[in-house]
Amino acid sequence: MSNEEKKFIELISKIPNVAVQGYNKQREVIYWNEASENIYGYSREEALGQNLEDLIIPSFMQSTVISHIENWHKSGIAIPAAELPLQHKNGTTVYVYSSHIMLNEHTQNPEMFCVDVNLTEQKKLESTIKNKNLELENIFNSYDFAVRGSNDGLWDWDIKNNTMFLSKRWKEMLGFQENELENCVSTWKKLIHPKDYDYCMEYIDDALKEKNGSFEKKHRLKHKNGSWIWVLDRGKTFFDEEGKPIRMAGFHTDITDVVKKDKEIKEKERMLLHQSKLASMGEMLANIAHQWRQPLSSISTLATGTKIEKEMDLLTDDKLLCALDSINETTQHLSRTIDDFKNFYAPKKKKVTIFKIIELISKTLKLVSSQIIINDIHITKNITNFEIQSLEGELVQVLMNIISNAKDALLNVEGYRLIEINSYTKDNKGVIEIIDNAKGIDKKIVNKIFDPYFTTKHSTQGTGLGLYMSEEIVTKHLKGTITVENINFEKNGVSCEGAKFTISLPLI
Ligand SMILES: Nc1ncnc2c1ncn2[C@@H]1O[C@H](COP(=O)(O)OP(=O)(O)OP(=O)(O)O)[C@@H](O)[C@H]1O
Ligand SMILES: [Mg+2]
Repeated sequence: MSNEEKKFIELISKIPNVAVQGYNKQREVIYWNEASENIYGYSREEALGQNLEDLIIPSFMQSTVISHIENWHKSGIAIPAAELPLQHKNGTTVYVYSSHIMLNEHTQNPEMFCVDVNLTEQKKLESTIKNKNLELENIFNSYDFAVRGSNDGLWDWDIKNNTMFLSKRWKEMLGFQENELENCVSTWKKLIHPKDYDYCMEYIDDALKEKNGSFEKKHRLKHKNGSWIWVLDRGKTFFDEEGKPIRMAGFHTDITDVVKKDKEIKEKERMLLHQSKLASMGEMLANIAHQWRQPLSSISTLATGTKIEKEMDLLTDDKLLCALDSINETTQHLSRTIDDFKNFYAPKKKKVTIFKIIELISKTLKLVSSQIIINDIHITKNITNFEIQSLEGELVQVLMNIISNAKDALLNVEGYRLIEINSYTKDNKGVIEIIDNAKGIDKKIVNKIFDPYFTTKHSTQGTGLGLYMSEEIVTKHLKGTITVENINFEKNGVSCEGAKFTISLPLI
């Protein structure tokens, strides 16, 4: 052996991390360098003479390895270099990149040399990375699962590197497959409704400036099918130690249905308001018509009466002036009714005044006087005066309604017809009573007379709104009460039976 050859063998035997082993035809170790000792754990002495497969080949590979080597001896087919999981003395796996050379190939004593590079550390590193990736994937999957479970789409913007992650659900919400939308900020920007674009850019800008700022905003995004989806965008910005924004992440929730329902509800409310306005307008007109019926019939009676008197040459100047005054008074009342109704339906414009009850009653009687006189009704009054702060016009209407009902009832009474009006104070309340002797109200209907549209009269005679309106006015506007009862009483030695309406109002 030359010096050069000796040097070379020396080098091979000492080279670190490259394990070189030699085997004879029976696969017994004939050469085992230092690196082989390190990698496989067997000393040179231990290894020499041992079979390859018994030393470093894991049991599951043994038969394959033997057949490959035998095949090489027989047919000359070399075993290609490969990454192999071999076995350390202590049983652990040693990953090597193994290359093989056959010396004396076509002789009786072929020798196979293996050159193994230890890959164990590299493998460990690879497996750590793989595990980490797996861990990350698991974390992400469970995160994504949680997010998907909540039906929200996740977005995550790495501001530093300007990359954006958009979750599968984020894309699905807009009708796209995962691979149909690129994971970048411009994907979002391109899908924003043009009318919402500036607003979105503004809130993102604000969120980039605002430390610890999180936001919750609504905007529209374009669905793949061209429709617009309403999303609730909830996000948060993360900052580094220097206060620079580094990341912004959040969720999209599809709120299209909520927005749609909200719109529907608003529309319904608008319609209802409109309908109730129409209804109250209708009610107002019905009430005005009701209030006008009595005064209009007074005017008509006065006018025709005056005309007949003129034709019969009975009309004196005094009578004419009296009739004209009465007509004038009544028309003024008609005009006031309109104002009162305006106040009634626009309560802000209500005019509250202080007035004396005695004046209020005489005003009312003036307005109904023609009906009273014509129908031969006697009025008696027991008035204790008191002052009241209220809506005078409305109270006049209430009294007129009650008196006019009494007059209607009295038309069925032959003989003495009476309406008695009393007023007094009791328990810090001002009380007005209106009593008639028209036999009272049938017990069967007495509970219904304050209901709207309840009437026992012919449709040309009554609408059934008089007492309903009166109760509304007294309770809601005048903060008082109105009740009815049938009573028996004696008047001028005659026993009477009739209805008694009692209005009780708070005193000043
Ligand atoms: N003093 C009364 N005596 C007997 N019945 C009465 C008396 N006052 C009211 N009623 C009964 O109560 C009903 C309801 O009265 P309300 O004033 O609400 O309506 P109306 O007089 O029938 O019609 P309108 O809307 O034109 O006033 C009357 O139809 C009548 O049957
Ligand atoms: Mg009535």
